[in-house]
Amino acid sequence: MARLGDSVAEAAQCLLKGELAGIPTETVYGLAANALQPEEVLKIYKAKNRPAFDPLIVHLSSASEMEKYAVEIPDMAWKLAREFWPGPLTLVLKKSPLIPDITTSGSNTVALRVPSHPLTLALLQQLPFPLAAPSANPFGYVSPTTAAHVQAQLGHAICYILNGGPCTVGLESTILDLSGAEPVLLRLGGLPREILETVTGKLTERLTQNSNPSAPGQLDSHYAPGCKINLYPFGSEPPLKLHQLRMFSVWPKAAMPQWILAPDGRTETAASALFAALRRLDEESIQEAEIEMAEETGLGRAINDRLRRAAAKR
Ligand code: TXA
Ligand code: MG
Repeated sequence: MARLGDSVAEAAQCLLKGELAGIPTETVYGLAANALQPEEVLKIYKAKNRPAFDPLIVHLSSASEMEKYAVEIPDMAWKLAREFWPGPLTLVLKKSPLIPDITTSGSNTVALRVPSHPLTLALLQQLPFPLAAPSANPFGYVSPTTAAHVQAQLGHAICYILNGGPCTVGLESTILDLSGAEPVLLRLGGLPREILETVTGKLTERLTQNSNPSAPGQLDSHYAPGCKINLYPFGSEPPLKLHQLRMFSVWPKAAMPQWILAPDGRTETAASALFAALRRLDEESIQEAEIEMAEETGLGRAINDRLRRAAAKR
């Protein structure tokens, strides 16, 4: 088991010694190591059982650090950083030679973001290096949104888990590729596309890549619990035979238990509760569930993206 607490100093000590730390962010918990040290980054791949072709996101303490770890940074990157960092947006840029190949799986681009969580920002400010951190879950499973989720699955491989409470956003960051001629959206996430587009203008998407994926979070099956999942459109009436997970309101005629993600009717609340609910299906050994999807707009699109991948055939 990992030590667990809210000491930034203890987390820093582990990372300075070359060990792994669990770190809270506003999106999901990360499994962090020194992004500049190949042997330490390798520990992340081993602990997660992550395929070597899946590059990591590098977490920075501030936007000004972009200059150290990326080259040929377009004006759009600075503009987006000013607008949305710290926050749930990851930018893919051409990498600087300081970033080792293993961190980017050999790609000449690097994914960068400044996370919005006071403990992790304090940690990043103390450290003399940025942190490579994928979501702290075994590859292909649901991302963790509490320190206890991290402990349960990866505690054996981690020196210290920095407990920052439940994640407020609850979905991974939105990923935007700015390394090519025009911006391309690679992953829907915590920053809704509509809001991003107020700065970038209309975006092209490249969201599913099953062969040689450039963002494996985009494999058809990912974020998947063991429970079999059947999806139903927002507001529709499911067959009512199975355990149900619903967005905002109970379905009066259902015979089986229903879990409501957001009794307050807010999509943000549903997003922050989603991954814990998917895990709970497995914790309670529920074999099959009916899940109502969100409305296909704003954060609802990212929720539905995760639900489709969670339900996809493996
Ligand atoms: O919200 C988040 O982004 C969380 C927290 C911990 O920051 N991290 C996260 O990491 O979701 P991960 O590893 O589970 O997903 C990162 C995704 C992967 O699908 C990876 O392929 C993509 O980012 N990615 C990383 N570097 C890339 C690159 N150079 N080009 C394209 N995609 C990249
Ligand atoms: Mg992940």
